[in-house]
Amino acid sequence: MNHLLKLLDLSCEEITELLNLADQLKYESKHGIRHPHLKGKTLGMIFQKASTRTRVSFEVGMSQLGGSALFLSSRDLQIGRGEPVQDTARVLSRYLDGIMIRTFAQQEVEDLAKYGSIPIINGLTDFCHPCQVLADLMTVREYKGALEGLTLCYIGDGNNMANSLIVGGLKMGMYVRIATPENYRPDPQVLDFAAAKSDHFHWCSNPMEAAANADVVFTDVWASMGQEGEAETRRTAFKGFQVNQELLKACKSDVMVQHCLPAHREEEITEEVFEAHAQEIFDEAENRLHAQKAVMVKLMGDA
Ligand code: CP
Ligand code: NVA
Repeated sequence: MNHLLKLLDLSCEEITELLNLADQLKYESKHGIRHPHLKGKTLGMIFQKASTRTRVSFEVGMSQLGGSALFLSSRDLQIGRGEPVQDTARVLSRYLDGIMIRTFAQQEVEDLAKYGSIPIINGLTDFCHPCQVLADLMTVREYKGALEGLTLCYIGDGNNMANSLIVGGLKMGMYVRIATPENYRPDPQVLDFAAAKSDHFHWCSNPMEAAANADVVFTDVWASMGQEGEAETRRTAFKGFQVNQELLKACKSDVMVQHCLPAHREEEITEEVFEAHAQEIFDEAENRLHAQKAVMVKLMGDA
């Protein structure tokens, strides 16, 4: 594994190895055991979109690993003024030991990896959010003990989170059930991947059908970053695709609720459900730190 560009590139064994390492690093953090695996290394963090969790967890994670992180806003970089990604990749490869990038097009992340010579980590694109889903899988495994055979349900927009949850869940042997409106389905490349595992995958446009007997329910915002102009249209299209008490009645009685955050209460999730499941949602947010530390150690460490 040289980069983390998308979960489609990883095997079940590679994901398991990252989750095991994340658990170990979390244990060490909680017990005051230092782990400076990236002493003297520097991560560049390019942000073309806003972030709270990704920015802070990567920066803190790098510092806990003994290295340092540089925040690079696209507003300040020449990339924001049109310098080609091919050149940016080759220049930054001469200074840094790794790059985390949050941007719009997946191709930009793939190009950084193609033209640069250091590990590239996808911190969210319009296509996927692999760091988030590694933390999600880690959290579900923590609560449920294992992933294989569990039913993962996702309700809402067929967006970057849906895409990564489908791939991550299926790779780990979970049953994945997705409900989106007809015109907001997951990416065709992801649906093609899922079609090869059709005994474990079900897409429908009926949230209740998708939620039946689920062990864990995920949702995400109806308008992702960059889609703010469509917010009103989307609010109409997604009416009914809400995680609420009624929907949870269709799930297993010990169902977990997960949300990558930020959440829009009373849109994709009710305040009542959010607060009732706040502990597991904020554990999920915490696990971003541990899962990403595992990714950085794996990609940037010497071992
Ligand atoms: N979940 C997530 O990626 O959050 P941020 O946008 O705050 O980084
Ligand atoms: N789908 C959301 C996820 C935010 C973490 C977005 O892309 O804005």
